[in-house]
Amino acid sequence: MEKVFRNYNENSVKAAVREHYKKMRQKQTVAYVAEMKQKYLTFDKPMMLWEALSHLDDLIDVSDPDLDLPNVQHLIQSAEAIRKDKRADWMQLVGLIHDLGKIMFLWGTDMDGTSQKEQWGMVGDVFVVGCALPDSCVYPEFNHLNPDMSDKRYNSTLGKYEKGCGLDNLELAWGHDEYLYRVLKHHPENKIPEEGMAMIRYHSFYPWHTGHSYTALLKEEDKKYLSWIRDFNKYDLYTKSDRTYELEKLKDYYLPIAEKYLGKGPIYW
Ligand SMILES: [Fe+2]
Ligand SMILES: [Fe+2]
Repeated sequence: MEKVFRNYNENSVKAAVREHYKKMRQKQTVAYVAEMKQKYLTFDKPMMLWEALSHLDDLIDVSDPDLDLPNVQHLIQSAEAIRKDKRADWMQLVGLIHDLGKIMFLWGTDMDGTSQKEQWGMVGDVFVVGCALPDSCVYPEFNHLNPDMSDKRYNSTLGKYEKGCGLDNLELAWGHDEYLYRVLKHHPENKIPEEGMAMIRYHSFYPWHTGHSYTALLKEEDKKYLSWIRDFNKYDLYTKSDRTYELEKLKDYYLPIAEKYLGKGPIYW
């Protein structure tokens, strides 16, 4: 039987996934996101890329109904599928690192939802904070639990935004996508092309790239983002399997690509 991905039906999915999304909906507000940006975007923790990758051997993403392997295995599976399709080297690298923002669990806290135990501030599909939550979110029945949804400034279609302001001006729920994007944006040697940076920043934004919500907030140029992210998404989602790899064995192939686009020095997290 063909494997079904992203099945969130009550019976087939673990209670932990549902609970994760409930907390995420309850706690990811405009105020929370602003606080997390202040707290985590400090760029003062140097760590080599390969070391960061190896730390993801200790993290299992609780929001993922499809995979119970350490996150580093998912990264390798994505990268190897992109490589097999002979796509550009930078895209292979993006496959390998796209979830690396999850290393915030190393300095995260249960209270912020950025730890091993509490991951609601780190992983899972993201949504826009500061405007109405669409029904295209997973478990839309939790939408009303978000405190911003009873705040007049934030509970309308546009909320705090201007019509057509564009994707880059939206504030998304805090998590690993935005974190890695901002860390790499701040990294002076970053040469990952615009497409790759968009793949990193928006790959968890399912209500937009798959649910087609938020049309009033988008602008014409955002269409190009959509084609890039949908292209990347097939590797992020449909490559999940039980096949495991040894990270160290892949170093000879991927490290030179990483150095080409990110330099040889540490990245400041
Ligand atoms: Fe991700
Ligand atoms: Fe991923």
